[in-house]
Amino acid sequence: MQILSWVSKFLLLSFFLDVVSPLSLAQTISPLQTSVCSEADRDLSLDHNQLAGRIPNQIAGLKSLTRLSLSSNGLTGQIPASISSLQNLWYLNLSRNGFSDPLPVIQGRGLPSLLSVDLSNNHLSLGTVPGWIKDRELSDVHLAGCKLQGNLPKFTRPDSLSSLDLSDNLLTGGIAGFFTNMTNLQKLKLSNNQLKFDLSEIKLPDGISSIELQSNQLSGLLSRILNNRTSSFLEVLDVSGNQISGTIPEFGEGLSLKALIIGSNKITGSVPWFNLKPERTGEDRYFKEPHNRHHSNHLGALVESSMARPFYQQPHRENPS
Ligand SMILES: *[C@@H]1O[C@H](CO)[C@@H](O)[C@H](O)[C@H]1NC(C)=O
Ligand SMILES: *[C@@H]1O[C@H](CO)[C@@H](O)[C@H](O)[C@H]1NC(C)=O
Ligand SMILES: *[C@@H]1O[C@H](CO)[C@@H](O)[C@H](O)[C@H]1NC(C)=O
Repeated sequence: MQILSWVSKFLLLSFFLDVVSPLSLAQTISPLQTSVCSEADRDLSLDHNQLAGRIPNQIAGLKSLTRLSLSSNGLTGQIPASISSLQNLWYLNLSRNGFSDPLPVIQGRGLPSLLSVDLSNNHLSLGTVPGWIKDRELSDVHLAGCKLQGNLPKFTRPDSLSSLDLSDNLLTGGIAGFFTNMTNLQKLKLSNNQLKFDLSEIKLPDGISSIELQSNQLSGLLSRILNNRTSSFLEVLDVSGNQISGTIPEFGEGLSLKALIIGSNKITGSVPWFNLKPERTGEDRYFKEPHNRHHSNHLGALVESSMARPFYQQPHRENPS
């Protein structure tokens, strides 16, 4: 189905739902530009549909659009440069479609309200993070599977970032200084890259709650990132598929960790949380390590700890490497 008719249908649906039959008015976008879009809040969310075709240039006519979320559809072609005239758009989510290069060049005054951008998993080969994303004050930057390569980007406003997803790219380095001034970072995903560094080279920002570093070439001791400092805020830590060594540290009170995923590393010892009393019940949150690869740990691939009891422990066996 053409997106244009969906756009008009949706807007009519959301704003005239109880007065007009949407189908009879789904023909053209022009009435939207005049009447409908004088309303204050505009949220166009059509994720997980079967929209095909391109985003029409007329999208620029939806002047008061604040959220454009078209994730997980079959949209193709280039993202039109005309989106840059959407003055009120703060949320742009075009992930999981078939959009192709090049991205529009968004000039300095384009998309002035943007806070959140997700272009993950399209057919984009960005190479590097475009300036209009890297050099502005954004809270969410999701560019997974965009063929980013080389060093991790240096954001001009690292303090504004709250959620950063650069997984499934070809990033190789640049960890030194990467976390500098990322004072508000909550969630970080760098899984499935080619990052090679020792955990002692990083100091995680205070307050970060979720870190996924799966399938890179990380080495060093687990206690460098999981320790008494980070344990009070870290809830999810996935470092599986690396070459991390050491043991799972012991903790006193105040452990926030809900999921620790450490499968396929070189971690040794035992799971130290057996003898803690479960304080809360009924909120099991855990991840199961689906399979064991050759370079597996000596101990459990997975520990669920908010219940202060391990969810699963593999039988002890020798590391084949
Ligand atoms: C984009 O939409 C998808 C699907 O709804 C969602 O999983 C993802 O978290 C969204 N991205 C952001 C940055 O909100
Ligand atoms: C970090 O923030 C401080 C204070 O705002 C600033 O002086 C410094 O240049 C920033 N460093 C980086 C690498 O962004
Ligand atoms: C954390 O603190 C507890 C209690 O003070 C202590 O027993 C434990 O050894 C510490 N763990 C680490 C990894 O420093």
